[in-house]
Amino acid sequence: MLSHAATVSARALHRVGVGDVARRAAAARGFGVGRRVGGGRRLGGSGTSSSSRRPRVARVFDRRAFRGAARAAADEPSSSSSSSSSPLPFSPLPDVPLSPHVSLVSGASRGIGLEMVRQLLERPDASMRGRPSAAGGHVVAACRDPSSATALAELRGRYPTRLSVVRMDVTDVAAIEAAAATVAEAHGRVDALVQTAAVLHVAGEMAPETSIARLDERSAIAAFRTNALGPTLVVKHFANLLHEATARARAEAKEAAAEKESDSDSDAGYARAHAPAAVVANLSARVSSVGDNRLGGWHSYRASKSALNQLTKNCAIEFARKKHPVTFLLLHPGTVATDLSAPFRRNVPEGKLFAPEFAAERLLGIVGEKTQEDTGKFFAWDGEEVQW
Ligand SMILES: NC(=O)c1ccc[n+]([C@@H]2O[C@H](COP(=O)([O-])OP(=O)(O)OC[C@H]3O[C@@H](n4cnc5c(N)ncnc54)[C@H](OP(=O)(O)O)[C@@H]3O)[C@@H](O)[C@H]2O)c1
Repeated sequence: MLSHAATVSARALHRVGVGDVARRAAAARGFGVGRRVGGGRRLGGSGTSSSSRRPRVARVFDRRAFRGAARAAADEPSSSSSSSSSPLPFSPLPDVPLSPHVSLVSGASRGIGLEMVRQLLERPDASMRGRPSAAGGHVVAACRDPSSATALAELRGRYPTRLSVVRMDVTDVAAIEAAAATVAEAHGRVDALVQTAAVLHVAGEMAPETSIARLDERSAIAAFRTNALGPTLVVKHFANLLHEATARARAEAKEAAAEKESDSDSDAGYARAHAPAAVVANLSARVSSVGDNRLGGWHSYRASKSALNQLTKNCAIEFARKKHPVTFLLLHPGTVATDLSAPFRRNVPEGKLFAPEFAAERLLGIVGEKTQEDTGKFFAWDGEEVQW
């Protein structure tokens, strides 16, 4: 039987429109029943049947605040102009696995983000080396308009229990809050947040400036909102889910070490300390580098990505001081054959235009292998550090 808190949680989820199994999963995870992982071990729940046992991991996010945001989102459709007609921020799943690892990719409708989602699903062993728990884990694909994201819909048809699609326009704070509430209720953690959403040009609205004479205030503000502020607001609203992931990964590593029967305290302590922290990887661009700027131009895009670099570095410093730290990385994918680069490929030297498959593979490899010691660093697709 579910506890009172679990019943309340289930009702709240019903109001925000999350599927039945998500309700059961969230109830089972966080409200008195405990979370089953692998062979039926319980993690993190306070336990109705074992209420005398202390929870192994203290929950670090405020579920009531998340539920409030989700409820508000259900009542008031997102202000995003491109949002779907459904008031629900989430496509309900037929079955929500109690995944030991959750990756969230923003800007997943096309380009590098879409390819990352595909590889996380199709290449479970290879996609994030160094984070073995990512293999077979859950993937949340965030995009502005799930109803028009046909490639994601096709992937969801093939991986209905491993992929969920959530609506999130990074320039719309209500949409970010609603997405965080949805992910909190369905998964309770985010282990890897990869942010690819960005804008360089929009037909008839925005084009990269070739001279200061072409600088347009509205376009510049739009670039800063999407490329710098948006990803940082996502970090703000997903922060507790990231801390929760670090806490849980460490508790799980400690428990696994103890179960190996080499369970001296020092082994368990070592495993706990070396479990990977949650990671945020923000896609920047080499043109953001001030030291490497030899061509000029592209004022808004360049400067918005430089701002993203500074904000990401700031987060790296702040989140390293937390009890449950989070690793922050900046990534340059190279020049990649996507819609973003389409108008500017003429001068790309032979062999220097990468397929999205190649870029996604390289970048996921970097996300998987870097640790808290690398937090705040900026890496190119080949693993080389990029100068600021
Ligand atoms: N391609 C390159 O050569 C290259 C080079 C250096 C750096 N990068 C960086 O790599 C990342 C991925 O680029 P890409 O080539 O894959 O770009 P892309 O093909 O143009 O895709 C951009 C993605 O961002 C999404 N997006 C745009 N505005 C958004 C918003 N307000 N909220 C949420 N999502 C939004 C788009 O969604 P919609 O479908 O809804 O528009 C789309 O999914 C970007 O950060 C880019 O700056 C790319």
